[in-house]
Amino acid sequence: MHVLVTGGAGYIGSATAMAFMKAGHRVTVFDNLSRGHKAAIPEGAAFVQGDLADRGALNTLFQMGNFDAVAHFAALIEAGESMQNPALYFRGNVTFGQNLLEAMLEHEVKRLVFSSTAAVYASKGAALNEDDPYQPANVYGETKLMIETMIRWYHQQLGLKYAVLRYFNACGAILDDQGNAIRGEAHHPETHLIPLTLQVPLGKRESIKIFGTDYPTIDGTCVRDYIHIADLASAHVLALEALDERKQMTYNLGNGQGYSVRQVIDVAREVTGHEIPAIETPRRPGDGAILVASAEKVNDELGWTPKYPDLKTIIGSAWAWHQSHPNGYASSDGS
Ligand SMILES: NC(=O)c1ccc[n+]([C@@H]2O[C@H](COP(=O)([O-])OP(=O)(O)OC[C@H]3O[C@@H](n4cnc5c(N)ncnc54)[C@H](O)[C@@H]3O)[C@@H](O)[C@H]2O)c1
Repeated sequence: MHVLVTGGAGYIGSATAMAFMKAGHRVTVFDNLSRGHKAAIPEGAAFVQGDLADRGALNTLFQMGNFDAVAHFAALIEAGESMQNPALYFRGNVTFGQNLLEAMLEHEVKRLVFSSTAAVYASKGAALNEDDPYQPANVYGETKLMIETMIRWYHQQLGLKYAVLRYFNACGAILDDQGNAIRGEAHHPETHLIPLTLQVPLGKRESIKIFGTDYPTIDGTCVRDYIHIADLASAHVLALEALDERKQMTYNLGNGQGYSVRQVIDVAREVTGHEIPAIETPRRPGDGAILVASAEKVNDELGWTPKYPDLKTIIGSAWAWHQSHPNGYASSDGS
């Protein structure tokens, strides 16, 4: 298939674009590079620099592209930023996402794989399944739920086929056959726990902050399900190919195992051999206490199982990436 990958210069999109190509598909990346990196786009993928805000650019892209499917990663992803600037997120994720859906349908492209998130759910003490209630704790999660709703109606009324994939906490790095880290996390600014924690042994920060120690969890800190991006990528390949047979799918992607913030920091200490001082601070708005996936449904229906569920392996791969790319992609593309 020829797959349009929006956001393919970003963390998960670039890793998945590689996986699509490895599975024999052709890839065109569309990205405005506002938060991604040209150097992350895999070799062999076509690249069109553009913005989902630009309906004219989307029209030209679809006229030229002859796409069989779209994998839509491009979005703003920071929960904290979304609480400070909701308008940016409603516009960036919902309005611009709708531009993409409309362009797809105008050009008769009817297969969509969509990056959604655990942030659509209410926090729960047990593993979440796809039928659990929605209750986003932040604007970011709400924007993803709004696009999901739009996608469901476009399916019902206009024949769009979709796979909505709700990732839990994406992490880790892609290693090549020699064990070299070739794709990893390089968000600016970085807000995710694992890369921030690893900045301490890298000498880029003195300590890591823990936001909230009074949550109803095992040690008072937030609990999340950390899922390796290589496993996310393999799920996308299965979902894309399943769209030949299936008309609509919604799946959680996680390991089913939760780790607290303190536990993640402890494993990072073990992996790096660094003491990594931690500072306890009050809760942040928009953080739920516990978000852990049940991925039973995608396992039953598509046969997906994560290959890298072990937190030490995940953090080990991230550490390999940050050690070999202390400035992210900066040295290779200047961004
Ligand atoms: N990182 C996670 O833990 C996580 C968890 C759940 C869901 N997701 C979802 O996965 C997707 C990818 O996340 P990521 O971590 O790779 O993010 P990322 O910021 O690394 O990648 C997003 C890419 O989209 C591009 N982009 C943003 N707005 C655009 C626009 N208007 N037009 C064109 N390009 C645009 C950015 O330049 C960037 O390259 C997002 O949709 C996110 O909501 C991520």
